[in-house]
Amino acid sequence: MDELVARGRGRIEWIRSRMPLLADARAHFAETRPFAGHRIGMSLHLEPKTAVLLETLAAGGAEVVATGNHGSTQDDVVAVLRASGMTVFGSRDDTLDEHGRNIAGVLDAEPDILLDNGADLAAGIVARGRQDTILGGTEETTSGGLRLRGELAGAIPFPILVINDSILKAIGENRHAVGQSVVESFMRITNLMVPGRRFVVAGYGWCGRGVAQYLRALGGKVAVVEVDELKAFEAALDGYRVDTMQGLATWGEVFITATGHPDVIGPDIFPLLRDGSVLANCGHFPWEIDVAALKADAAEVRTLDAAIERIEFADGRHVILLAEGRMMNLAGREPKGNSLESMDLGFLLQTLSLERIARSAESLADGAQPIPDDINREIARRMLSAMGADR
Ligand code: NAI
Repeated sequence: MDELVARGRGRIEWIRSRMPLLADARAHFAETRPFAGHRIGMSLHLEPKTAVLLETLAAGGAEVVATGNHGSTQDDVVAVLRASGMTVFGSRDDTLDEHGRNIAGVLDAEPDILLDNGADLAAGIVARGRQDTILGGTEETTSGGLRLRGELAGAIPFPILVINDSILKAIGENRHAVGQSVVESFMRITNLMVPGRRFVVAGYGWCGRGVAQYLRALGGKVAVVEVDELKAFEAALDGYRVDTMQGLATWGEVFITATGHPDVIGPDIFPLLRDGSVLANCGHFPWEIDVAALKADAAEVRTLDAAIERIEFADGRHVILLAEGRMMNLAGREPKGNSLESMDLGFLLQTLSLERIARSAESLADGAQPIPDDINREIARRMLSAMGADR
């Protein structure tokens, strides 16, 4: 146990040292104590960056009861948080049933503020009929926001600020952090060269723009597939080759999907791909490449390395599939996810949104809603200042 704590402390120390926005918030909260008397129930990936977020909330006087998301909990981080006196449920190897019990454990502690990821806690509160005990909360993801506005609409009589709706997050994370981490992950997983290589990026939304930008910055030749004519127009003026997937299937060497939609690369495309093409996805769901159809058409499928599969076709060609079509920037050996600075920004959004809930939930509407714009602008100012940039 001591060894786990020591390892976790070292990793968290590195990350804490590069999250200056949260460091400032911690110093400020130590004086203002916005969360004194509140219990925050959290369900979010338990990794070192999240530990720094939790320290920040605790510095503001919060009592924190936390669990992770299924399959991503890092045991050394849990050990450190427990050693600091927090109530934390969960471990790396939890089954789905155990994960459900962890969520129930957080709710049993009767938090009055929720920090949710995927709306599991909000759904649990509704199932228990205990909405009256909640002051408000935050939701990290698009999928949780959709759930709150869909199956849970009308059942949430308290405000939930949806972090993913923030323009600041779109710029700082979806574009620039995903752009960097997808390119980094492609290089780390495959060890292939980017300069001079032909890449096809599907989707020119926030993530696709970043992926295209950072591939080109390293000397890649980049083409874009985009169904929205305005974004396709933007990609063309940004200097990318723009065409359909059919039109680019024989040109591309590496294909990266970033659309959030299913079947972007499917059975109509597989027969056209060059021998040795690499297929990868950075969208949230593992459905952008039709992996089931790809494997159904295959003569042979072999795993060659962490996150690398070789799929042989009957006609003698093969393709390489990365991370089984799941989010490539969370896959392979030692996945790092998005950059420290982008998560510093993202978690300051969490922190100031939770502070708004704790201080003035009654000033907000009920249900899922975007982050108040003054919070986005405040964080943009602080980030510019931390970067030494002026206006
Ligand atoms: P976005 O909505 O800004 O962009 C998606 C783009 O794809 C749109 O421009 C849309 O017109 C286009 N599109 C839709 N269907 C298409 C098709 N069949 N072919 C070509 N283009 C198509 O969304 P954003 O923010 O770029 O997110 C994309 C995905 O990445 C989502 O699933 C999101 O959850 C995920 N994501 C992944 C992250 C990661 O760390 N890997 C982090 C943040 C988001």
